[in-house]
This record gives sequence, C-alpha cells and structure tokens, in this order.
Amino acid sequence: MTDLPYRDPSLSPAARVEDLLSRMTLPEKVGQMLQLNAMDDLDEIVVGRLAGSILHASPSRVVEAIELARGTRLGIPLLVADDAIHGHGFFPGATVFPSQLGMAATWDLDLVERAARATAVEAAATGLHWTFSPVLCATRDLRWGRVNETFGEDPYLIGELGAAMVRGYQGEGLTDPTAVLATAKHFAGYSETQGGRDATEADLTPRKLRSWFLPPFERVVREGVRTVMIGYQAIDGVPITTSRWLLQGVLKDEWGFDGTLVTDWDNVGRMVWEQFVSPDHAAASAAAVGAGNDVIMATPTFFEGAQEALADGRIDEKRLDDAVRRILRLKVDLGLFEDPRAPVGERIEAVVGSAEHRDLALDVARGSLVLLENDGTLPLAGGLVADDDGRAVAPTGAAPLRVAVVGPNADDPHAQLGDWAGASGQVSWIRDGHPRELTETVLDGLRAVAPPSWEVTYARGADIVELGPDPDGTHFPDGQPRPPAALPAPSDPALLTEAEDAALTADVVVAVLGDEVALAGEGRSTATLELQGGQAELLERLVATGTPVVVVLVASKPLVLPEAVGRAAALVHAANPGMRGGRAVAELLLGLVEPTGRLPISYALHAGQQPVFYHQVRGQHGTRYADLTQRPPYVFGEGRSYTTVEYSGLELDAADVAADGVVRGRVTVANTGARPAVETVQVYVSDKVTSVTWADRELKTFRRVPVAPGESVVVEVEVPATDCTIVDAAGRRVVEPGEFELLVGPSSRRDDLLVTPFRIG
Ligand code: NOJ
Repeated sequence: MTDLPYRDPSLSPAARVEDLLSRMTLPEKVGQMLQLNAMDDLDEIVVGRLAGSILHASPSRVVEAIELARGTRLGIPLLVADDAIHGHGFFPGATVFPSQLGMAATWDLDLVERAARATAVEAAATGLHWTFSPVLCATRDLRWGRVNETFGEDPYLIGELGAAMVRGYQGEGLTDPTAVLATAKHFAGYSETQGGRDATEADLTPRKLRSWFLPPFERVVREGVRTVMIGYQAIDGVPITTSRWLLQGVLKDEWGFDGTLVTDWDNVGRMVWEQFVSPDHAAASAAAVGAGNDVIMATPTFFEGAQEALADGRIDEKRLDDAVRRILRLKVDLGLFEDPRAPVGERIEAVVGSAEHRDLALDVARGSLVLLENDGTLPLAGGLVADDDGRAVAPTGAAPLRVAVVGPNADDPHAQLGDWAGASGQVSWIRDGHPRELTETVLDGLRAVAPPSWEVTYARGADIVELGPDPDGTHFPDGQPRPPAALPAPSDPALLTEAEDAALTADVVVAVLGDEVALAGEGRSTATLELQGGQAELLERLVATGTPVVVVLVASKPLVLPEAVGRAAALVHAANPGMRGGRAVAELLLGLVEPTGRLPISYALHAGQQPVFYHQVRGQHGTRYADLTQRPPYVFGEGRSYTTVEYSGLELDAADVAADGVVRGRVTVANTGARPAVETVQVYVSDKVTSVTWADRELKTFRRVPVAPGESVVVEVEVPATDCTIVDAAGRRVVEPGEFELLVGPSSRRDDLLVTPFRIG
C-alpha cells in the first residue's frame, strides 16, 4: 500500500487527504468521525465500527488499538486522545501538576506553558496524540463540581493562561514528535450552571456569551488551538452541539477557526435520552453533523444513526466529507501515516515522571500557593534557609519547634492530586492512584524539609465524607461511572481528642483541611460549600487549645470557611497542588520560598452569596443582603507576601488617548518589609458610563515584578484603547469614547486600587 498517494509524505497534506477521502466508503467515513471509549471492546470499536479515534485507553490498550487500526482496509491510523489536563494523570507514575485552578494562581504564563510542554512530552511518549485541555470555562457558581478544572473567574486571565497552555501542548508544531493536540473546551457557556448543577441549561443570551464566555475561546483560536470541544449544555433551548450560530457563525466564520470540532461525551446520544430534543439517533446524528461537529465522542450508535441519515439525505455528504477531511488532516499533520506514534518504552522511561518534570511540578506548586492571612506566625521561626539538600537549617540557639500536622488532607495523596488524576474515578486501570511514594503530602513535605531537630507529629483529626452507593445505580445512562454519594462524615470523638492532644503539646499546628475528590468533578457539584464532616469541629477544638494554628486549604474550590478560621494564625489557599504540593507547602511555611500566588477566583462567605466573581454588572438596590454582607471574604487577585508592598504615584503619560492609541502610565511598587516579593501588579479598566449595563471594572493586563526588600520599582503599564471595550446592545464588542478609569493595584477590590481618570476620544 506504500505506493498509494495518501501514504506518500512527499505530497501536500491536502492532496493526501483528498486521495484518501476518495477511497473511503460511507461506513468508513462515518466510522472515522467516531471517537470511542477504549475501555470497551477494542475489536468492536476499531474493526466493527471503524472508529477513527479512541479515548481512555490504558497503556497496554493503546498499543493493541494502534495495531488493530493498522490492519483495517485502508490502515488509517488512530487518533489517541485523553484528558491529560494537569499532567498525564492517568498514566501510572506520570508527573501530576497542580489542578488548573492551582496553576491559575501562579499568574505565571511561562510556568504554565512549561507545565503543558512537560505534560505533552510525557503524554506523547505514551502514545497520546491529543489532550482535552485547556478548560476555558469561567467559574460563575462555586457549587459547580468542575471549578477545579477552570482557570478561575476572569475572562482575560483565562484567555492568557489558556493560550500559554496551547503553546505548551502544541509545541513547535505538530511535526514535533512531542507535540499533542490541544483542545479548547467546553465551547461555550458550560459553566453558567443553574444552582451549580452540572451541565444544566445555561441561561445565557448571545450578548452575555460575547461579554464574558467567548473571549477566552477567541484568544486561543488566535493562538492556533487545533481542536475545540463542544459542551454538553443547551442555551435558550438549543444544545450547543446543534448551534449553527456558535459553531459555524462565530467559531468558523467570524474567528476563522479551521480546525476540528469534537463533541463532549455522548452529546449526540444525550439529545435523545437526556435532553429529549431528537426522536432517535439518526435525527441527533444529522443535527450534530449539520451544525459542524467532526469528531463524535462516545456515541457508538452514531455509526448506525449517521448512515441512516445519510441514506435519507438528512446528512449532506459534502458536510460528512468536510468533517472527515478535518480529522484526516490532523492525522497527516501529526505524521501518523509515517509513524503512528505508538508508546516507546525507552522514551517513557526517560521522560515520564522525570526528575526535570518533577522539579517543574514543584516550581508550579510553589507558585500556586496563596497566603491569605498571616498574623506573623509565618514563616515559622522567622523563616529558615535551606542546606544543599533543600532541608531547612535550624536557627542556632533557638529551641527546636514542635509541629503538629493535623487534618484529613494532611496526608491524603488523592486529595492533593485532585480530579483527573489517578484514582479520581474516570478510568479503570489506575483505580488505586499513582505509586504512593510519588506524591509528597504536607506531612511528607514537613518531615522532609523541617530541620531534623524539629518534632513533626501527625493526627488525622476528622474525616470529610462517607461514601455510599448512589441509589440511582453505578453508571449513568451514557455509560460513564456514576460517582458514589458523598455524605458528610460524622465527627469522630477519638480522632478529635487525638488531634487536640497533639495541638496541646505542639508549638504550632498545621491544619490541612478542604474537600476530597468525591466532592469535586463532573456530576459532583455540591449544594453547600462548608468544610464537610468533622472538620469545622476539629478546627474549633484546635484553635481553642491556644496553640497557633496555620490553616492550609487543600481543596478543589474556594470553600466557605468556619468562623474559627478568623482566630487562626494564618491561612494558605493551596487548591489541589499536585504531586509535589506538600513539599511546596512545607517550604512556604518554613520561609524557604516566598508566597507569590494570587487568587484567580473569589471566596464566598456563604453559599447563598453566589455569584461572587468580581466583575459583576452594575445596578442593584443596596450593597448587602439584609442578613449578611455581600462582600466576599477573599477576592480575585488577592494574596499576601511575607513582606509589605506599597503602591504609589500612579500617573499617565496623557489622560487623553486616541481611539487607536495606548493608555500608558506607571506606578511605583515599594517593598517596605524585610523579605523579597514577587508582586502581581494588576491593571483594571472601568468605563464610567456605558450604553448598556456593564461590569464596574475588568482586568486588562498584569505584570509580575520581583521587588527586593527596601527597593522601589517603577512598573510601566500599557492598555491599548482598543481593549477598553464593552459589548453593546446589538452584541458588538465596541469601544465607547468617553471617560474611563485606570485602576492599578494588588487585587480586584476597589479599595486596594489606585485610580486615575483618562478619556478615549
Ligand atoms: C467529559 C468531560 O466533560 C470532558 O471534559 C472530557 O474531556 C471528556 N468527558 C472525556 O473524558
């Protein structure tokens, strides 16, 4: 078969695709569009249904599937896909980085790009060609189970971080054998849930979509993302899967996206059995193909449905060919006809979980930690320095410290890795998670890093949830495993007493609290946001001992914190910090590294405060609830250092800026304390009067600036006038000339920002 044109690498990709397409039968074309679950019968998938792509293949099944595809009539290679979203989490021993929400807290585009690059290098070695990452959904309601998968709440930050990840995954281009296809998902508006419940109808208008949800997608399309995943949800009655306006009109026609669209899991079947908008699979298949979808994920019956719809003309063969072309083009561009990129043993040995990648995971974890409160207890013992092995050296003359490490997440590797990693439940071959020794919990970290003379004790103190069978069964109708019901665990008097005793005999308590994987993820939204199980009581008892308590939150999302946190000595937001996260936390507590992370998302004081994102639209009677403040306790952009930083002297070159000009100015950032800082200088714009209601302020750019103790740095800020947009009543993104404000400072809170007016002419 080597003499066939489509196998000839000297021909143009387009010519190869056309040649192959001309040789394919209709069933082969329909099969090519299928992406099926490789945990099912592979022979049935690859030979029976001629699937062009698989997902969720265990390491050994990747090889088997690639071989099966090689043996099919035309030998079209498979596209192997999976969710390597914060590291190649389902490959045993791969490097697991902090969750996307954790990575977002670094506000460090270069670091996030390098994490994605490392993930691609590991994934590619194991035979993966395509990762379903990054998630570009903006968190709106903290009860949603997938907050951990997002970059937080701000469209600009999401877009920039998403673009960095796309660069990292796709590398220098698809001919690079370490490149994997990136996916912008879930297009679009999936996070606008009702009541935080997963995949509900999203109450969005086209204008609202254009205002807050589409910009990150447009940003990564500009970055060259090769695939886009279509969300589960419907908007205004139309499942996105069938939205010609979004798929054809916006994505392809307006933005010029010429890549490949993949549905989310069984979107096509879902229209029949869940959304009840299609009478049968033929109708659903026709609607999905007609709207512009190319790869149909996890709907085996698409094979029959699409053929039926082709036979009676409901699917236009031209559109079918267009879809298949887009899929084949990916395969040609990846060079799969020459080399199916099967797993390579030595390469896996060399790169998966390599020392270099684990060092990077440690760097990302360090950068992801956000210090929210500190009464001076941190860094412990005034801050230590490390020896050559990275272990803290005890200060001479000071008594060794006794540290009680307490809490259900102090030594739980699964909570630390979070969702889409090892034991999080989506795949069958790594149910027990990664080898335990690869994950450093906070307890491991403190034991490894604290001076040898210090005493580090451990008490679990409380459980979070008790798992029970879901009364509705073990699987959803779409075949995905149904998560167990997670009910709050009762307080355990023996655990509480043990923890209290540990606190009483310690100089400091490190209480690692939060949630666990059973409370996060798809179909695992929570009705409440409180610390579950015995944790609130545990914290109360610990604080009551009088020993200073440092609270570390290892959690999938911002939780509502009990009142006792207000009496704790310090509070650290750690998200799901990944394999090296516990060590990073230990280093932070000891002052071996500085806190530099900033919240990419706001905390709520009560679940009933939803939504709490900072860029709320103006216009409301009053500023509070009758029974509660509306102020979130911690907001987007917030985070402290171990030093003090002051902003002053915000000035502009000119207050009058032309419509095609740039708002240029500077601000002075002074480190007035004794330790180094990396300050995230945030630049917001407020449009004083808009033709339609709009947010009071929006992040437009930011700069991360190192500032040494005692030093002042003048930071230049620039915002093109063309970025000072709103979306008008007709849904157009426009700059409305007039009065604006530039706000610069360390968080999104107005009180924290210096303000200067400017005018766009
Ligand atoms: C469903 C999820 O919504 C999506 O994010 C994921 O990529 C696919 N399943 C494949 O696992």
